[in-house]
Amino acid sequence: MVGAHILATGSALPDMCISNTQLSNIIETSNEWISNRTGIQERRVVKPDQSLVDLATIASQRAMQKVSFLPEDLDLIILATSTQDDMFGSASQLQASIDAKNAVAFDVTAACSGFVVGLITASQYIQTGTYQNILVVGADILSRWVDWTDRSTCILFGDGAGAAILQASKKNDFLNFNLHTDGKHADKLSIAYQAKLYKDQNLDVFPPVASQYNYLQMNGKEVYKFAVSKVPQSITECLEQVGLCSNDVSWLLLHQANQRILDTVANKLSIPSEKIISNIQHYGNTSAASIPIALDEAFQKKQISKGDIIVVSGFGAGLTWGTIIIKWHA
Ligand code: ACO
Repeated sequence: MVGAHILATGSALPDMCISNTQLSNIIETSNEWISNRTGIQERRVVKPDQSLVDLATIASQRAMQKVSFLPEDLDLIILATSTQDDMFGSASQLQASIDAKNAVAFDVTAACSGFVVGLITASQYIQTGTYQNILVVGADILSRWVDWTDRSTCILFGDGAGAAILQASKKNDFLNFNLHTDGKHADKLSIAYQAKLYKDQNLDVFPPVASQYNYLQMNGKEVYKFAVSKVPQSITECLEQVGLCSNDVSWLLLHQANQRILDTVANKLSIPSEKIISNIQHYGNTSAASIPIALDEAFQKKQISKGDIIVVSGFGAGLTWGTIIIKWHA
């Protein structure tokens, strides 16, 4: 089997930074409440003239620049996002934007698990010998889909993008993975289609009126319970299948949803807090972008060393969740 190696990572964040105190000027909340319940202190938010593809392009170019990688050498681009600029998908626009003319490109929609699903998909294409060079991008602009008058949701989210280049190699970084879906609880976290009807409109009327989506809806308590029960199980199962245990874990990199979720999952696995990779304080929950941004920052800070075991888990809407065990070969 061919190995799949993480060659480089990159990330991009909007310039506009919104603090908890700024939020407390528009909704009834406080820095103390948000910090204590979530660990978030500030988040980045795009301006109206910045697109998802703009952010994804910067993150991708930063990854390529680190290793002087040429965009025409990409065989495949996977864009994990739930907030694409175009409902038909934005991966092809990203392909054009970075001038990756030889790459096939498609979107993956799996909310906050999207980057994990994208990485697993990419590793499978490489390990089966189908493609040699794959760009996986996680990018989301949830600030456009949250209700900024709803204090139970809007305080959590931010915008951003992260990218990783995977390459066929003798070094195989991907030791194991699992993925799970429980669609019965899809309503716990959704941005659902909303039929637009005129008052007293007959449902049989044709042609239909242009549609729209609701704001993000979330049952926070249920999502919290789901995350802290399913994620440790997924990680334990994934480690055991390759003869590893929590003691072997160098870094725990979870989807950055809430610091309390990160701490509880680590605690359940007996992983000490210093092994948790966290940047939620600065960016909030950036959905599919959170894992690749945190991974890129960890590489930049040289936290991750050759031979380290990194447990990566994503979880979120769907409901979906999954884990990858990475042994980084440098
Ligand atoms: N500021 C001040 N008070 C607030 C706020 C706020 N922003 N939001 C809610 N409250 C109030 C509530 O009204 C309630 O008041 P009451 O007791 O008078 O009724 C009180 O605070 C407690 O509210 P809860 O909803 O019970 O607060 P909880 O402790 O559950 O924390 C939170 C809420 C932070 C959302 C938590 O449930 C959570 O983190 N859940 C997980 C959410 C998550 O991670 N979602 C992303 C998943 S990933 C993805 O796919 C996008």
